[in-house]
This record gives sequence, structure tokens and C-alpha cells, in this order.
Amino acid sequence: MIKPHLFHYIMTIQFSTKLFTQADFTATKNLKSAFALLIKQESDCLVMAYSKADLADLQGKTNGQGGPKKARQTLNLGLAGPLAALDAFLGGAILRAANDGDLAAKEAAVTLLRSDPSWLAQGVKLKRVLLVGLGETQQKTGGDILAYAKLARAAIKTLSGGAIETALWLMASFMEKPNPQRLGELARLTMQLAGDQVYRFGVRQPAMRFKVKDTPDPLKALIFVGGSKEASALKLAVTEGTALVEGMNLAKDLGNLPPNVCTPAYLAQTAQALAKKTTLKVEVLGRKQMEALGMGSFLAVTQGSELPPQFIIMRHSGGKATAAPTVLVGKGITFDTGGISLKPGDAMDEMKYDMCGAASVMGTIYAAALLKLKQNVIAVIPTCENMPSGKATRPGDIVKSMSGQTIEILNTDAEGRLILCDALTYVERFKPRAVIDVATLTGACIIALGSVHSGLFSDDENLVKELSESGKAALDTVWRLPLDAAYQEQLKSNFADVANIGGRPAGSVTAACFLKRFTEKYCWAHLDIAGTAWKSGAMKGSTGRPVPLLFNYLVTYGAR
Ligand code: BES
Ligand code: MN
Ligand code: ZN
Repeated sequence: MIKPHLFHYIMTIQFSTKLFTQADFTATKNLKSAFALLIKQESDCLVMAYSKADLADLQGKTNGQGGPKKARQTLNLGLAGPLAALDAFLGGAILRAANDGDLAAKEAAVTLLRSDPSWLAQGVKLKRVLLVGLGETQQKTGGDILAYAKLARAAIKTLSGGAIETALWLMASFMEKPNPQRLGELARLTMQLAGDQVYRFGVRQPAMRFKVKDTPDPLKALIFVGGSKEASALKLAVTEGTALVEGMNLAKDLGNLPPNVCTPAYLAQTAQALAKKTTLKVEVLGRKQMEALGMGSFLAVTQGSELPPQFIIMRHSGGKATAAPTVLVGKGITFDTGGISLKPGDAMDEMKYDMCGAASVMGTIYAAALLKLKQNVIAVIPTCENMPSGKATRPGDIVKSMSGQTIEILNTDAEGRLILCDALTYVERFKPRAVIDVATLTGACIIALGSVHSGLFSDDENLVKELSESGKAALDTVWRLPLDAAYQEQLKSNFADVANIGGRPAGSVTAACFLKRFTEKYCWAHLDIAGTAWKSGAMKGSTGRPVPLLFNYLVTYGAR
């Protein structure tokens, strides 16, 4: 048996603004003096984006100001564009590469230049320079998030997995008109993407090493370079980005752990371990307390399992004591066999991911704690297994939920809603400003939306807007699906207040409609992450979604 360790505190990657927040780029007389500073840094790689105009400047096809076109304001000084200014230190290496056709200036085209004796002769300590083509879109929009992500991903792919351990990321070179706030947002996004790229399961903590050969990605630090005007925005971005990546890593680790390790008790221990290391307060209720609370619906799901269920409550109290908290509720089925309504055997191993809702809310509140977010957040995780046995719940059983509503369980595989409904009743006591539940709830959601968007269900227009925008900005998108009363018809039962399934049509909608019945006392949204929380196939694994969305939502809207 593998012992649960305090694994989540080992960083896989450091993001640093240490260098160059002091070095005032805009105050340097020209690009030349800025680069004179940069090339002296002992780093494995400098990452810089360039435009077609920069390339034209370099090749002398223009007046050194991007030719007849307007000059790019990015690194706004000097006689020549940034490529030319840097090239002066690199013995003409960039120009030679350009003349050989290696600099296509195409969107997301990357060119890696290696140090040679002529660099050394000029005191260049950088080992490499990675040039990234801006392409047309990014040049025009100057900060379009999807276009930027494409560039950043291409660059990070080149940086990771090889010999490069540290890289300097020349943030401003990616935008036509850098403004500090946008620059910060893009830096945070870069960290998210880098964290995603370098994540490897089983290398961050010895307790998770199931393959002897696993090694961490060599890329260890990204250093964002910016001028003094951008320093504070970049610093904030790095603090936020670090917390976000830690939260995502935790969510991925928990999702990827096998179901014999990541049990309900393991989730509870993980929460308690986080409480020891951060300001989070954690409380775990056991079966007896759940019985006392009347959680008949939740208890029906755990009935067939040998493992005790857990009800985990985690609190981050960063706001005023009187401020209403945002409550995140995560489905924590550590393995879903379907119960007596047994699932087919194909790819059943993937049902270990049925606790990704729990993992993502734990990752998010952990990130909130690391960031010392000035607001109140509560994560609530009902967790158990869904197993068949002689004691398991039968199709046809009727149970009484904590809300008092009785439920006819027609299919024991629709168990997520059964544990969530009691959790959703439980959280009424917090008088929340908003409740967001996150669940790998329905296979139907994968059919509807695939792995692109998570399903979003809510009657609160404001919450819909805020979650949608937060998702877009975090590259962790949602798509709204309906919750109309008309669908409630499908949940009618002849023998109880409600049935737990509504048939095949609109399966994700009826699941959400079931939950809605338990959320009338507060502002609520439901995220169905069945298609987005993990990838299937050869590269199968947890994605860490929707931690970026939830984190961005809290940071942007959580204090309002
Ligand atoms: N955990 C599953 C949903 C799921 C299935 C997520 C496949 C990811 C991939 C959930 O508990 C479930 O089994 N839902 C049933 C509901 C049905 C019985 C009404 C489903 O989607 O088939
Ligand atoms: Mn199920
Ligand atoms: Zn399930």
C-alpha cells in the first residue's frame, strides 16, 4: 500500500520575475542597451517573438522602422527593429538564418539559434535564442488570446523535453502595443500553458512513482522579462500563475492516481494535509454524521462499497467574516462501476476519473489559499465509490434526500446526482453568494460537446456571463445548455417525488434539472466536465480542467 505523502508542495516549475523587473526597458536609451543587458544573462534560452516588419528591418529592406509600414511600438526605441538590434550581438546569426530562409515570420513558426564562438566573443551568455513568428493575426490584434496561445504553445513545446532548464520570456515582444494589464494576463496564461506542458504524473512526488523510468521535464524555470512599467503586473501574474499551476497539478495528480490509491479516505487525507500546510480549514464528516444529517441519497450510493464515504469541507477565509462565500461542490466518485446497473467493461478504468470534480474544486481552493485571495471560498466534496455488492442499492429503491424529497433510484449508474443533491442541500447553511458544482456527470455531455467545452447550466444570467468570460480568458471554455422546466417532466416518478434518471433524450439536461431541484435557495451553476476533465486514448490523463476557469472566475468576479 502506497502511503499518502504531502506531495503537492513540490514545484515542477518555477516562474520568476526576479530578473529584469528592475532593469527598466523603456528607460534604456535604445534596444541595443536593453539587449546588452539581456544577452549577459546566463540562461539556456531567450524567447522572443518577431513580426514581418521586424524581419524586413533586419534584412535591410526598409528604413529600419519597419519600412513604409508603421513601425512596431513593441520595443519602441532604437534605430532598427528588435531582430536587428539583437542580431548585432549575435554575430549576424539571425540575419544568416533569415537569408537561408529559416525565419518564415509565419504564425507560430519557431527558429532555434544556438550560441557559437561569435556570440561568446561579444560576451553573450545566453545559450540559445528562440524566435517565434507572430504571423498576421497576432500582429493585428496584438494580444488575441487564442493567437497568443498558439505562439506560446509552439515556443514552450520547443523549450520542454530537451536540454533547456531555464528560459527568459520576452513578454513585450509578443504584443504590438503592450499594456501592462494585458501583458500580465498573457504571462499568467503562459505559465498555465507551460505548467500543462511540463506536467508529468509520477515525477513530482515519490509516492506516485509507478514507473521506474519516469523523469521530470528538464524545463524548470521561466523568467518573464519586462520593463519597470510592467513589473508589478508581471509580478502579480507570476504569483497568480504559480498558484494556478499548483492547483492544476494537484487536480491532475488526484485524477491520475489509480482508484486503489485515490480512495475517499485518500481525498480526505489530502485535504487535511493541505490544511496543515496552508491557512485552509478542513473538516471531514463520516458516515455517522451523514446519517444524522439525513443524507439518505448520498448514503445509498456508498452502500455497496467496502470503503467508508467521506464528506469533506474546506474553507478559505480570505474575506471579511460577514462576506458571503463562493461555494464549490465537487463530485468525488473515486470509482464508478455503475453499481448494480453495472457499466460495460470497455475502458471502465476511466471511471477512476469520476472524482475529477472533487479534484478540481480542491485544486482551486488550494490555489486560492496559496494566492491568499481576499475572499471567502468553501469547497465541499461528497466522496465515495459506486460498487455493486449484496448490500448495494437496487434499481427501484426509494431513498429520502437531506432536502426531504424522496428519490426513486431507477438506475444506480446515475449516482453523481445522488451524492451531489445532498451536498447541495448541505451548503445552504453557508448562505453563499454563489454555488458552483462541478461533476463528471453524464456521458451525454461528451456526446453533446466533446472535449472542447464543459457543459454550463444556470438560470442566473450574470453567473452564466461571468463563468463564460472567465472560461474564455483562461482557455477553459464552457457552453451553456438549457435547464427549462419542460425537461423536469422526464424526471417524474410513479412512486417518489423524483426519479434519478430521465431517459436518453437530453441526458445532460435532465441530470442538471435533477440537481436544480436542490438549489432553489441560492444562486447556482452546474458544470458538467465529463468531456473535459480528462483525455482518453494513448495520451490518456487528467487535464486539470476546470481549475483555470474556476480560478479565473474567483480572481475576477469572486469578490463582487
Ligand atoms: N460518471 C458517469 C458519467 C460519465 C460517463 C463520465 C462516461 C465520463 C464518461 C455517470 O455517473 C454516469 O454513469 N452517468 C450515466 C447516467 C445515466 C445512467 C442516466 C451516463 O451518462 O450514462
Ligand atoms: Mn455512473
Ligand atoms: Zn459517475
